[in-house]
Amino acid sequence: MTLTRPRIVVLTGAGISAESGLPTFRDLDGLWRTYRWEELASPEGWRRHPQAVLDFYNQRRAAAWAAQPNAGHRAIAALERGFEVDVVTQNVDGLHERAGSTRVLHLHGEIEYARGTSIRRLRIHLRDQPIVLGQCCADGTQLRPDIVWFGEEVPNIGPAQRLVAMADKVLVVGTSLSVYPAAGLVHHAPPHAEKVVVALDLDTVPGDFRFLRGKAGELLPPLVAEWLHGAGA
Ligand code: OAD
Repeated sequence: MTLTRPRIVVLTGAGISAESGLPTFRDLDGLWRTYRWEELASPEGWRRHPQAVLDFYNQRRAAAWAAQPNAGHRAIAALERGFEVDVVTQNVDGLHERAGSTRVLHLHGEIEYARGTSIRRLRIHLRDQPIVLGQCCADGTQLRPDIVWFGEEVPNIGPAQRLVAMADKVLVVGTSLSVYPAAGLVHHAPPHAEKVVVALDLDTVPGDFRFLRGKAGELLPPLVAEWLHGAGA
């Protein structure tokens, strides 16, 4: 007989990395309060002024590389001691992996990678290095950030939906749940699953989710300790 461990899916957004010093998008000090996403996070913006787009993501890559995972990321990684855990993140900063999470599905790409602009989507690992105009990948096309922009397909949404649909617990952390299709994932949680949202603030809490209002770095460690205790881990 094989004993299977309960499955947890953790859906995260920019709020989980706020305590690592990385800005969110829609809070008062959020990126989209200063910058226009239409100019910097869309295929049209890239066509119109690629240098501005590269500058924006080069700065964000350097900031993400310099940041450290916080207590919230570490608590999520610790869940693996008692559960089968999949992290499904809208974040591009790589901090879940650096905190020790081993299964991380990225919905909106990864800032430390660049990709070509042909259909082949060849990727290269930049780490913290900038992309410059004229820099090409092996197929000869200009490199762009490996980020999913508004109006682009989200290739990992199908796998993410399937993970959520199999979960025993769904934990949502630090997302305003305002960008689709990622925001729609909560509706794939099975009726029997325990559902919790942790955020500083949230306009609309999805149906049968319990809302814990506060900072991820403060609320997640005790919640995770309680869940691990309940799982006998
Ligand atoms: P948002 O900026 O829309 O939402 C951040 C959420 O985190 C808000 O609900 C805050 O209340 C909460 N928050 C802030 N600090 C927190 C903390 N310390 N602890 C817990 N919660 C905190 O960010 P996302 O929902 O991630 O996409 O935004 C979704 C997508 O919009 C991003 O992936 C990005 C952006 O445009 C692309 O760039 C394609």
